[in-house]
Parts: sequence; C-alpha cells; structure tokens
Amino acid sequence: MTAKTAARVVPPADPCCFVVFGASGDLTHRLLVPALYNLAAAGHLPDAFSIVGVARAEMTTAAFCEGLRKALDRFATRPVDPAVVDRLLSCVSYVSGGPEEPGSFDRLRDRLEVIEAQRGTRGNRLYYLATPPTAFVPIARALGAAGMAREEKGAWRRLIVEKPFGTDLASAQALNRALLDMFEEHQIFRIDHYLGKETVQNILVLRFANGLFEPIWNRDHIDHVQITVAETLAVGRRGKFYDATGALRDMVPNHLFQLLALTAMEPPSRFDATAVRRAKAAVLDEIQVESTTEALRRSVRGQYAAGRVGDTEVPAYRATADVAPDSTTETYVALGLEIDNWRWAGVPFFLRTGKALGRRVSEVAIKFKQAPFAMFRHMPIEHLAENFLTVRIAPEEGISLQFNAKVPGPSIAIDGVNMTFQYRDYFDAAPSTGYETLIYDCMIGDAILFQRADGVEAGWRAVQPFLDAWREAGADGLCVYDAGSEGPQEAHDLVGNHGRRWRPIR
Ligand code: BG6
Repeated sequence: MTAKTAARVVPPADPCCFVVFGASGDLTHRLLVPALYNLAAAGHLPDAFSIVGVARAEMTTAAFCEGLRKALDRFATRPVDPAVVDRLLSCVSYVSGGPEEPGSFDRLRDRLEVIEAQRGTRGNRLYYLATPPTAFVPIARALGAAGMAREEKGAWRRLIVEKPFGTDLASAQALNRALLDMFEEHQIFRIDHYLGKETVQNILVLRFANGLFEPIWNRDHIDHVQITVAETLAVGRRGKFYDATGALRDMVPNHLFQLLALTAMEPPSRFDATAVRRAKAAVLDEIQVESTTEALRRSVRGQYAAGRVGDTEVPAYRATADVAPDSTTETYVALGLEIDNWRWAGVPFFLRTGKALGRRVSEVAIKFKQAPFAMFRHMPIEHLAENFLTVRIAPEEGISLQFNAKVPGPSIAIDGVNMTFQYRDYFDAAPSTGYETLIYDCMIGDAILFQRADGVEAGWRAVQPFLDAWREAGADGLCVYDAGSEGPQEAHDLVGNHGRRWRPIR
C-alpha cells in the first residue's frame, strides 16, 4: 500500500489581520505561532496578511518577534525554514494594552487601520482570545465599545474564544449572552481543539461517506459505546487551575462530548456548519440525567494517589503544588450515559477520562452485538472475540475492527483478529499542532469545526447534575486510584453492573 500525501488543493485564506490577545502568553508561543508557521510553510496564508500581538506588557515589535522566533525554535512541529520564518515575522506588529486601560482599544483600532492600509488586509480581522477566561468578556466589550466588532464595508470581524467556556451551565450561558451582546453568533468561533484532530473529523467521514456503517449504527446492532481519553500526564504545574476545575469540567462537556456527538448524531442534511452543529447539539440535548441521585448512580469519580507512571514516580494529587491537601477535586471520571432517542434507546455510552493513568489512550470503541451462537455452541462465549470497531485518536491514529476468524487446521477453532488501518501507513501528513485547520477555517469563515452557543450549553446541561451531585456529596464517594493504574475499581463496577467491561487501557 502506498502512502498518499493529502491531495486537497487548499487556496490561501482571505486577506486578514490576525490579532492575538494574550500575545505574551504560553498558548501564543507554544501553539499559535507554530500553527501559523505551518500554515505559512504550506502556502495557506494570504499574501495580504498581518499578525498583531496585544498584551499588557510594554514591548517593542522587535522584542516580541524575537520571542516568537525563540518559540518556533522550541515548539515548531517540523524543521524550520528561516526564509518562511522571516516572511512570517515581517508581518508582525506588537501593541501594548488591555481592556482595563482607558483608551487602549481606541489606540489599537487606530494602529490596526494603519497596518491594514499598509498590508491591504481589507479590514478583515480575526481576534484570537488566547487569554485567561476572565479576560474574554472585558476584551469582547472593549472591542464592541471601540466599534471594532462591527462588520462593515464588506469586511469580516471574527472572534476565536478558547476553552474553558464557562465552568457550569449558568456561567456558560452568561458568557454566551455577554459575547452575543457585542458579536453575532456567526462571528463567534468557540474552539475545542479536539475538533482540530484529523481522526476526530474522520468519525464523520467514516460514518457518512461509507454506505456500510450507517444501516447498522443503531440499537439493533450496537451493544454499547466506550469513549476513553486516558492520560499519563499528572497535574504537575497546573494545580491552581486544575484544583478549581477537575476532570469532569476539564474534559467532558467539551472534548469527550465532541467525540460522543460525532459518534451518536443523526446524519446532518448537509455538510455545513448549520446542519452539522444542529445535529450535534440535538444529540447532546438527548442525554438525560434527571436528578442528582441518578447522577451519582451513573458516575464514578476518583483522585490519584502516589504511584509510578512508566519510569516516573508521581506524587499523590493532594501533594501537588497549589492543590489543597484535603482537595476533593476529581482527577478521574467515568460516566454511564444514555441517549433518549429512537436510535440509541437502551444503548449505554460509557465515558472515562483521567490523569496519571498507566497508558495514554484516546479512542471511541463501538461494540457490536454478539452473533447468535447457534452454530458455534461449543465455544465458550468468553473465547469469542468481541466485535469492536475502534477509532483511535492517540497515541497512533487509526481505525480497527476486531472480529472472529477460523484458526487454520482441521477443526473449527475460532480466534479474535484485528483489521487495522493506521493513518501513517496511508497518508504523509506533516506533523501539526492541531490548530492549523481551526485557524484556517476561521479565516475562510467555515464554522463546522467550532462550537455553537447551543452546543456548548447542551454539553453543560448534561454534566450539570453531576457537578451538583458531587458538590453536595463532598468527599463521600470520591474513590482513590494509584497513579499508573487503569483508574479506580469502582469504574469497572460501573460498567460491570451493566454486564459489560472496559477495554484495557493499553
Ligand atoms: C486540555 C485539558 O483541554 O486537553 C488538559 O485542559 C488535557 O488537561 C488536554 O491534558 C488533552 O488534550 P490532548 O490533545 O493531549 O488529548
């Protein structure tokens, strides 16, 4: 089989100015600049382009560029071509200011107008909020007040908002309202970096570009679904953020629910942002957890104790810097959900995610119902392979199907085998940050891979009963697991009580 390079002809994006707030921060240096570099190297940036960094610190453009150059040396995902770097950095300007500083957005607007005239970017602007979430609303308001949110004279103005989008249903609704006071929905691009992952996008293609799966993609043929995002990383230096957040908020209403929505949604009528996002929000709305009692029954939360992940000794979560010594924040969560609709009634969707686990695995595994055993009655059921169709997102990207095959020989013996497709065997994709597609799509105004207000709120609505139940329960019911393990035993019971078992994390 020969490897193919992605043969998509991708035209350069619209002329535009990429204005990044939080320009001196980690996200800009670690991900955005390497992603912009990759877009530049692939010829996907327009000729008429500029990057304007905005942050509080006083800094010259030259000093800012120097920082970006160093960031590329450190974080670029592919060998850096100095000519491309020079071209990219020649588009960069730096403006100091912040929403709390009177007049600074008027100054920014005036600077942008000068830059736009020089670079011919036609007034199109992408505002990227690479800031802590507390700055989202002040910046959006300041942009609105300075007249910078309005789309006029054919120019577009778009706002990219990073995660976390709220901390519960009420705060996500309030954030949506505040942003929608200044921008219209079509201008707001809420990022979930999972949607920038090729394999995640491929769930849509697998389901809807093949005639094969859709007829059996329902409760008649599917026994249950397992969605796993297991991380080996411990909380490390993110204690302050993590202790106020926990595994549920950090991963479930966003990343895991994206995987669930793509797996479970109804076929959209068109491959466009309106239809796809409507179908995704609809399926999230159909996750029903009626009460906090039900939430407790459907969930397990755990916190890691000291242990060993690979060769590394990991201290207990409670011994992590900036974590309360009696913290009840969960670092692991497992949920057993049901989707109340015709397609999925009675099919459990098991979700789990955690830090400091034994292996890094992200996958969606669809378990098909067992064949009726009339012919192979002599085979004990536990010797038959389970029919899992697995979409692997990490570590290696691919799809595999597990099925039973006859063992060669005179008698009928059966064994489980795997049919596996690995992305790297077929396609030569250059390593990327995952942000390239998202930034490019925003520049061309394609919102399919971004979250709409209703989708974000549907995600929070589904997890709210769990947040409420755990807040009431405090330390009661918080399980402990060793760092380096597969998570708490109770999570196995959650699935075991339904007569199923988790796939091993390996
Ligand atoms: C982030 C979370 O959104 O996603 C992190 O805040 C988590 O805690 C990360 O580690 C996981 O992303 P990925 O792409 O490594 O699976």
